[in-house]
Amino acid sequence: MRILLLGSGGREHALASKISQSRHTEKLYILPGNAGTLQTGENVSINPSDFKAISQFVLDHHIDIVVVGPEDPLVKGIYDYFNNSPNLRHIVVIGPSKAAAQLEGSKDFAKAFMKKYGIPTARYCSVTSDNLQVGISFLKNLHPPYVLKADGLAAGKGVLIIQQYDEAENELKKMLEGKFGEASKKVVIEEHLTGIELSAFVVTDGNDYKLLPEAKDYKRVGEGNTGPNTGGMGAVSPVPFATKEFMAKVEQRIIKPTIKGIHKEGLVYKGFIFFGLMNCNGDPYVIEYNVRLGDPESEVILPRLQCDFVELLLATAQNKISSFDIPFDPRSVATVMLVSGGYPGDYEKGKEIKNLDKIKDSIVFHAGTKAEDNKILTNGGRVLAISSFGNNYKEALKISNANAALIDFENKYYRKDIGFDLVL
Ligand code: AMP
Ligand code: GLY
Repeated sequence: MRILLLGSGGREHALASKISQSRHTEKLYILPGNAGTLQTGENVSINPSDFKAISQFVLDHHIDIVVVGPEDPLVKGIYDYFNNSPNLRHIVVIGPSKAAAQLEGSKDFAKAFMKKYGIPTARYCSVTSDNLQVGISFLKNLHPPYVLKADGLAAGKGVLIIQQYDEAENELKKMLEGKFGEASKKVVIEEHLTGIELSAFVVTDGNDYKLLPEAKDYKRVGEGNTGPNTGGMGAVSPVPFATKEFMAKVEQRIIKPTIKGIHKEGLVYKGFIFFGLMNCNGDPYVIEYNVRLGDPESEVILPRLQCDFVELLLATAQNKISSFDIPFDPRSVATVMLVSGGYPGDYEKGKEIKNLDKIKDSIVFHAGTKAEDNKILTNGGRVLAISSFGNNYKEALKISNANAALIDFENKYYRKDIGFDLVL
């Protein structure tokens, strides 16, 4: 099989590793990839949202499968772009259709879907400048903190959690006036949920699904979960509090009704679903859907999958996921993200990364890196994810932390307390 993977982060390096290990992979291209994906295939500098350039490349290079890492091309409709062109229709695209991708691309769509199918989630009210007063009344009846979400994609910045009522009302108005551009012309106001977060994943063919390992990611930049949100500073899988009993509730109350809803609504979906969940005293609630795998969650869940990954992709495309077996490695995997100092604010790029050759016992997934003049340079906020196996998350973290300390680049920063809120 000739496979094309879209994206350039740690998630994509983890996907590229799995794909390159498959006995079915004849050739792997990554668009645009990073210095890590170079070890698994060929990088091509095409933007993952440039559908015209991608489709020309796919035809010229006789690609059989397109795997989409990030949400942007999915929300913009890459699945439909291929499916609607007679000369591209035979190519397998792993990901949801544009209509189904609204589960991530529109918070209002996702909330209405959950309400219709009885899926537990925070109470909400969707507001535009036309019904601002309805939104203000809803907001007044909530207890702080107040949760305001831009309806559309806002590069992970569109959620505000605000303590004071006056500030919340003010921010609501600013959002509707375009604080996050078009994405916040509609705002979802939500009740605040208290609990501990985790991420659940499935692969679906639109009719049935298979559960993948769950993970817990650490979004805040600072130790003790403080400071601004990032794309994710580390992750562990499995999650100790995701017991059999809790995961049975997740499947029964959330995953099964979601798949049923997708089927009933006639949404075409052949790919991964990421359920951002809150465990509120043992009961799961959906915080958000994502229509892709997570990053850095992929760097802990994909190493645990013991099936041939391309066979999994083909079973998804061919509606055979119900009979596809996905064994997991029972051990834990933990990842620690090395980031450029200043991230998620301003940071510098182009710093040489040293000591990569000294790393033993960990898998180093590249995120923001590039190869230049026989050197590996930093090329983003999140630079490398250091993933390790262990008999439990603590053992795995010990190895990742030791290797995180060994790698060297100017202004390197990482959280040394991943997993701090978990108990074995
Ligand atoms: P989202 O982009 O929807 O995942 O929101 C970003 C983060 O905001 C989540 O990971 C949660 O930590 C937090 N969050 C979102 N919605 C809520 C809510 N209703 N209650 C509490 N925290 C929330
Ligand atoms: N780690 C969160 C995400 O991928 O959205």
